[in-house]
Amino acid sequence: MVTKLTFKDNSPHFLIKKLLPFALYAIIPLLLFRLYIHPIHSFKEQVPRIKEQVSEQKKIVEIASCDYTNGNWVHDKLGPLYNGTNCNTIKEGQNCISHGRPDMGFLYWRWKPKQCNLPRFQPLQFLNILSNKHLAFVGDSMARNQLESLLCLISSVSTPVLVCRDGDDNKFRKWHFPSHNLNVSVFWSPFLVKGVEKNVNLNHNKLFLDSIDGRWGGELDDMDMVVLSLGHWYLHPAVYYEGNTILGCHYCPGLNHTEIGFYDVFRKAWRTTLDTLLRRRGNGIVGKPIDVIVTTFSPSHFEGEWDKAGACPKKEPFKAGEREVEGMDEEMRRIGVEEVEMVKRKINNNGGSSKLRIEALDITRLSVMRGDGHPGPYMHAFPFANGVGERVQNDCVHWCLPGPIDTWNEIMLEVMKRWEAQTQPRSQVS
Ligand SMILES: *[C@@H]1O[C@H](CO)[C@@H](O)[C@H](O)[C@H]1NC(C)=O
Ligand SMILES: *[C@@H]1O[C@H](CO)[C@@H](O)[C@H](O)[C@H]1NC(C)=O
Ligand SMILES: *[C@@H]1O[C@H](CO)[C@@H](O)[C@H](O)[C@H]1NC(C)=O
Repeated sequence: MVTKLTFKDNSPHFLIKKLLPFALYAIIPLLLFRLYIHPIHSFKEQVPRIKEQVSEQKKIVEIASCDYTNGNWVHDKLGPLYNGTNCNTIKEGQNCISHGRPDMGFLYWRWKPKQCNLPRFQPLQFLNILSNKHLAFVGDSMARNQLESLLCLISSVSTPVLVCRDGDDNKFRKWHFPSHNLNVSVFWSPFLVKGVEKNVNLNHNKLFLDSIDGRWGGELDDMDMVVLSLGHWYLHPAVYYEGNTILGCHYCPGLNHTEIGFYDVFRKAWRTTLDTLLRRRGNGIVGKPIDVIVTTFSPSHFEGEWDKAGACPKKEPFKAGEREVEGMDEEMRRIGVEEVEMVKRKINNNGGSSKLRIEALDITRLSVMRGDGHPGPYMHAFPFANGVGERVQNDCVHWCLPGPIDTWNEIMLEVMKRWEAQTQPRSQVS
């Protein structure tokens, strides 16, 4: 996972890590030897260069081993890279400042992992890594939320052009960044596997757990990188199918099915999805490689009733130790992380080389500390224009843009930079 990155034994990082102490030992006799056959001024010239090389290698090792999940939110006077005025792709419901949210304090925090610093998002680095590629976000509205954060982060240096739009309510959209010939798309697929969403004629979801949803599966061969994000739709009433059998249901009174909860089927859905990716894109010799990011479960912060004022009233992040990931949030997070580890094991057991790379983007803990980051009543514009009413809708699930969800993309860029360093290994300590 992103976090406690363990590189395969043949990865350059692992080599660097292993070789670093040996390289240092090797340098000392070399220096002594040079000192012996050359006058002292030559030695002085050598030292800064060697120091520089060593510190460069140390930096790579540090980045490679940083646990991004373990950290704190610290004050940051710089503030976000964008706002609702200079980014026009923010969905209405998440445009909190434009909707009259009065407190701005929630914008001035930065995630500080214990072991390293998380760099501010560098749009150009991102664009360069993904030039001539197709990045797809697939999942529910959290996938869309993360995508919209990314579009805004990038739009400070390059303007996206919307090239396709399909389905009701923007179920599929694709943008093109002409500056780097990058395509970014978003696919609505709230279960990842096949399913029928509840609607006016159906009071529960139907999930078919043995195959992936064709709405994105049909485009899979075209993608170079895919970000998968889901969870919240699994909490709704549903009936679960596998092949021709009904496995059971979650909260389906009136239907004669066994209640089986949603954890096991959530795991099955990940298994089906990731196995399909591995089979179709990870094995074999032909076809292009694919990078897969699994965003872990995004926690919500309802306190009390969802349609009363003050449903998510926080104005500041939780401090270290004040709020931990637990209960359903932790269970859902763990399933995502474990299924990613499972894919890595399958790749390792299969000789260690695959055209598929995968990491978990483990954002649950840093997000659980940000009860202040949701739109709350500002999902609608100026909700208190006529005073505080008896009832007001609150969104304590999605994240304001700008807001803490921007950090998810900052960490994702770090993962991509590590992958880049693996693809183009820098010269070893010489
Ligand atoms: C948005 O950002 C622009 C430039 O970065 C700045 O000039 C403007 O004042 C900001 N608007 C708000 C509402 O913060
Ligand atoms: C981007 O999308 C356009 C339009 O669908 C397509 O013609 C082009 O080949 C795509 N480019 C990449 C790099 O995927
Ligand atoms: C419910 O299912 C059980 C076992 O499958 C069956 O024996 C029973 O007749 C069913 N009841 C109804 C009302 O369909």
